[in-house]
Amino acid sequence: MSDGSVTRAVRLAVAGEPPRLEEKVQLPVPGDGELLVELDHAGVNPIDTYAATGMVGDLARLPRTLGVEGTGVLAGTATRVVVTGLGTGLVRDGTWAGAVVAPRGAVVELPAGVDPAQAGAIGVAAVTAYDALHVLGGLRAADRVLVLGAGGGVGVVAVQLAKLAGASVVAQVGSSAKADAVAALGADRVVVADAARLVAELDELSPTLVLDPLGGAFTPAAVELAAIGGRIVILGVSSGENVSLPGRTFYRKGLSLLGYAGLVVTPERRATAIHAVAAGLVGGTLRIPIDEVVALDRFEDAAARLRERSVFGKVVLATQE
Ligand SMILES: NC(=O)c1ccc[n+]([C@@H]2O[C@H](COP(=O)([O-])OP(=O)(O)OC[C@H]3O[C@@H](n4cnc5c(N)ncnc54)[C@H](OP(=O)(O)O)[C@@H]3O)[C@@H](O)[C@H]2O)c1
Repeated sequence: MSDGSVTRAVRLAVAGEPPRLEEKVQLPVPGDGELLVELDHAGVNPIDTYAATGMVGDLARLPRTLGVEGTGVLAGTATRVVVTGLGTGLVRDGTWAGAVVAPRGAVVELPAGVDPAQAGAIGVAAVTAYDALHVLGGLRAADRVLVLGAGGGVGVVAVQLAKLAGASVVAQVGSSAKADAVAALGADRVVVADAARLVAELDELSPTLVLDPLGGAFTPAAVELAAIGGRIVILGVSSGENVSLPGRTFYRKGLSLLGYAGLVVTPERRATAIHAVAAGLVGGTLRIPIDEVVALDRFEDAAARLRERSVFGKVVLATQE
C-alpha cells in the first residue's frame, strides 16, 4: 500500500538479474505535468520479460519499476485511469507497484463501470489489437480476417473487434486447450495448427487481413494464404525473429506487409484506442478475458505462465496488499 511517499514495487536493478519486490520504494514528488496514480491492477506482457533481460528499455535508467500497463485512481480521487505509454516501465518507473508518478500523457481517464482487472489489461494488448486492426490494418466489414495467436492478450481482443466491425474471422491457436474459449469470443472458425500445417488447414480461406503476432514461419504462411491485395500486420515475433518471405508470391499478389510498433504510437492515438476499448467493455460488446489475477509478490509466476503459453487472454497483477 502506498502512503503517498513510498510504495511497494517490482524493481529491476541490473538487466538479466531477477527483478525483486521492494516494500519501500521512494516515490518522487509529482512535477509539472505529472500525476500520482494509486495503482490496483497491472497487466503482464511479453515485453516485461524482454525488459527484465535488457532487450528493450533504457539500461541507463536502472533501478526501475517494471510494468508497461496498469490501472488505478488519481491520488485523492475516485477517477479511474489507465497508465501506459511514453516509456512506462521501459525508460521510467512502471506499473508493477502500489503507486506511480507518471507524465500526464501516459494517463488516460476511463468511463465509470470498467472492471478494474480488465482495466489493468487495456493499455498494451487491447490497444495493440484496436490500433493494428483499425488504424494500420484499415479493417472493413468486407474483410476476411485471420488472427494468429488468437488465445493471447492481443488475439482475444482482436477476434472480438474484427467481429464487431462485421468482418468474418478465422482464429489460429497452437493447441486445442484454447480453441473452445476462442470460439466463444465469436470467431467463425478456430484452427489448431502450427506454422507448418497452417496453409494446408486454411487452403480455401484467402484472408484479406492477417494479424500476425508470431513471425517466424507464420509470416510466410500468411503470405501463401493471403488474398490478392491483402494486408498482413506483423506486430510480434513470438515464434521466431527471422522471417523469410516467398518474394515472388508476395509481389505477385500485391500484398502489403505492415509493421506495428506500439512504442512509437502517439499518446493521442493510444488514448483513442483506450476510449474505444473501454466503451466496448462498459457497453458489454467486448471483454478482456482475465485468466488469473495474481498477487504482486507472485509476479515471477505470472510471467512464467505467459512464457509457458498456458494463459488464455491476460494475467493481471493485483498491486495492493
Ligand atoms: N508491436 C507492438 O507494439 C506489440 C504490442 C503488444 C504485443 N506485441 C507482441 O505481440 C506478441 C503477442 O503478444 P500477446 O500479448 O498477445 O502475447 P501472449 O498473450 O503471450 O499470446 C501470444 C500467443 O502466441 C502464441 N505463441 C506464443 N509463443 C509462441 C511460439 N513460440 N510459437 C507459436 N505460437 C506462440 C500463444 O498461443 P498458443 O499457445 O495457442 O500457440 C500465445 O497465446 C508478443 O510477441 C508481443 O511481444 C507487440
